[in-house]
Parts: sequence; structure tokens; C-alpha cells
Amino acid sequence: MAVIATSPAYCQLGFADIDQMLDIEQQVYSHPWSRGNFTDSFLSAHDAFGFRNSQQQLFAYFLMMPVMEELHLLNLAVGAEYQGQGYARQLISKMFDYAAQKQAESILLEVRCSNQRAIEVYLKAGFSEIGKRKSYYPAQGNTREDAIVMRRMC
Ligand SMILES: CC(C)(COP(=O)(O)OP(=O)(O)OC[C@H]1O[C@@H](n2cnc3c(N)ncnc32)[C@H](O)[C@@H]1OP(=O)(O)O)[C@@H](O)C(=O)NCCC(=O)NCCS
Repeated sequence: MAVIATSPAYCQLGFADIDQMLDIEQQVYSHPWSRGNFTDSFLSAHDAFGFRNSQQQLFAYFLMMPVMEELHLLNLAVGAEYQGQGYARQLISKMFDYAAQKQAESILLEVRCSNQRAIEVYLKAGFSEIGKRKSYYPAQGNTREDAIVMRRMC
């Protein structure tokens, strides 16, 4: 029987999606967001969007915080089984559509210096490094890690 590929459903996310986001956080981050982080973000009216598979299971998402005319990317993650299939690229394209709707001038993000994979994704999407934040992230063994700050004009 022929297998018909279906595109994932793109949708806005809210409090009801936090459990599924927490599952993905545990899979893909050394220092995952907590329930409190997501709750605070939604209470602050940050917008989140993601992809669901045909079983309605969330497998990728991003969260945005508006700061004046700039949008700040707070989090972007693709579930472990779904990585390397172009979903980050698709999510970022949706993020650009969202930025255009909001008439944002630019998108800003931070990424761990060691997160070469994500840095590559952002560079390919047109982001450039604009600076570093020293010791921004918690790291292994009670140490801290620098963040690279990247921006893309809309
Ligand atoms: C970083 C992350 C979002 C990438 O998601 P993804 O869906 O695997 O990425 P894509 O498949 O869309 O790949 C996009 C680009 O990433 C790069 N890439 C993908 N897999 C890679 C790998 N294993 N090594 C290096 N670069 C890779 C490629 O440049 C690819 O470009 P291409 O389409 O021209 O080949 C995903 O690995 C993830 O969720 N990581 C954990 C959370 C995280 O680090 N988020 C970023 C926080 S700032």
C-alpha cells in the first residue's frame, strides 16, 4: 500500500501543551525548561507555536517574547526522533511569517557556545552573531557557559 506523507499540523500552543513540551525538553536539553518557566511565559502572553504529528502529538515548538520592535526567541526545540528532517528550518520559516505579521524589525536569540548544531541552523536561516553574554547558561558541574547572541533583521 502506498504511504502518503502528510505535512505536520502547525498550531498555536498554550497551557494545555505544557506537559508535551516538558517531555521534549527532557529529551533534548541538558538544562530543560521547567513547568514554571513555561507557565510564566504563557502568563506573560508570550506566543508559542508548534508542529503536531498525525496523532496530534506535539514534536517541535518555539516561543517568542516581544520587546518593543524586536522579537526575542526564547526557546526552539525539535523532539529527538524528529531531528535532522528539516523541522527546525520549517519552524524558523513560520517564525519569520509571525515576525512579519507582528511587523517586527528584528529577531534576537541566545544560543550556547557549544550548541554547534543550533548555531548552524540559525546561520543558515540568516542570523548573524552580534555579541556574547559571559556565563549566561548553567553548565555541567556547577559551571557556567557563554551565550552567543544572534540577530536577524526582518
Ligand atoms: C537545533 C535543533 C532545533 C535543530 O533541529 P532539526 O530539526 O534537527 O534541524 P533541521 O533538520 O531543520 O536542520 C536544519 C539545518 O541544521 C543543520 N543540521 C541539522 N542536523 C545537523 C547535525 N547533526 N549537525 C550539524 N548541523 C546539522 C543543517 O545545517 C541543516 O541544514 P540543511 O537543511 O541545509 O541540511 C534540534 O537539534 C534541537 O531541538 N536541539 C535541542 C534544542 C536546542 O538546542 N535548541 C536551540 C536552542 S538555542
